[in-house]
Amino acid sequence: MTDVVTLTLNPCVDVSTATPQVTATRKLRCAAPVRTPGGGGVNVARYLMRLGHSPLALHTQGGHTGEVLAELLNHKGVPHVGLPIAQDTRESLHVIEQSTGQEFRFVMPGPAMSSAEWAVARESFEAHARLARWAVLSGSLPPGVPVDAYGQLLRWCRDNKVSAVVDASGEALRHALAVGVTLVKPSLEELRAYSGQGLYKLNEQIELVQSLVAQSRAQVVVLSLGRQGALLAAKDLLLQATPAPTHVVSAVGAGDSLVAGLVSGLLQDLDLPSCLRLGMAVSAATIAQPPGMAWKKEDLGTLQSQVKLQVL
Ligand SMILES: Nc1ncnc2c1ncn2[C@@H]1O[C@H](COP(=O)(O)OP(=O)(O)OP(=O)(O)O)[C@@H](O)[C@H]1O
Ligand SMILES: [Mg+2]
Repeated sequence: MTDVVTLTLNPCVDVSTATPQVTATRKLRCAAPVRTPGGGGVNVARYLMRLGHSPLALHTQGGHTGEVLAELLNHKGVPHVGLPIAQDTRESLHVIEQSTGQEFRFVMPGPAMSSAEWAVARESFEAHARLARWAVLSGSLPPGVPVDAYGQLLRWCRDNKVSAVVDASGEALRHALAVGVTLVKPSLEELRAYSGQGLYKLNEQIELVQSLVAQSRAQVVVLSLGRQGALLAAKDLLLQATPAPTHVVSAVGAGDSLVAGLVSGLLQDLDLPSCLRLGMAVSAATIAQPPGMAWKKEDLGTLQSQVKLQVL
């Protein structure tokens, strides 16, 4: 049975390759491309599968790229439902520059959705989420979808007692927090845009995540801070997590794997410190490999023990 439904309105096919050096004008001879299914909720579902859960990924699907996305998910054995749209699903391009190890990430705009397509997507979400314990709403909203789309879905989740996780930015995040979520995972940049504050100091970051909890915008806030780890705030709890020093091969999916680890812990009814430890371990495992290379669940034990957790 599905225990978690993820929704990705703006998924992509991630195309990853490598080239000795990125320079202008000259033809850059690249390694054979690796294609992986991508987009916030799609990634979260893939990682949750690997963690032993039974997710269902709902994603829009349009044109030839949409078919490729569906085939890649079939190939990986990820249960999914394609929500049909007229325009083409997008591709994203990731290039690793071999001489420096730097990664270049090119993100194209996604297709627009009509109001009829959004209505179908919404109905499908409600039909599937009704049967699940958790819903994950992740990624950007395509043009044509109401800016409060996540807010609308969150109201439904609240009325139907489905716990909800949101990973979004800009207005989509603002509308989500206005309704209230079970767990939100903003990055520092996303919280800066939300709050209009610089948030350079730890105490400013702490004050903001705690205020989101106090105002019932979210029961749990996990602020991800890239290589510096993450801050978790919940009622009567404030945690700082520092990852073990990691050689980053590719940052693709860092945030999504943190979300997957957190949700995996919540599905197992682990306490919040253990959820955070697991989230940090899953993101460390993901970024240590090139896109498309899979970590194994067995590898996570050591990574979890290397996470430094501090109660603040
Ligand atoms: N350079 C790094 N070194 C070690 N850990 C990292 C690094 N970058 C990311 N992480 C891990 O991945 C988690 C999520 O990363 P980050 O804060 O960059 O998320 P994000 O901004 O949502 O990323 P995304 O680009 O996937 O949306 C971090 O909390 C951290 O545990
Ligand atoms: Mg992110």
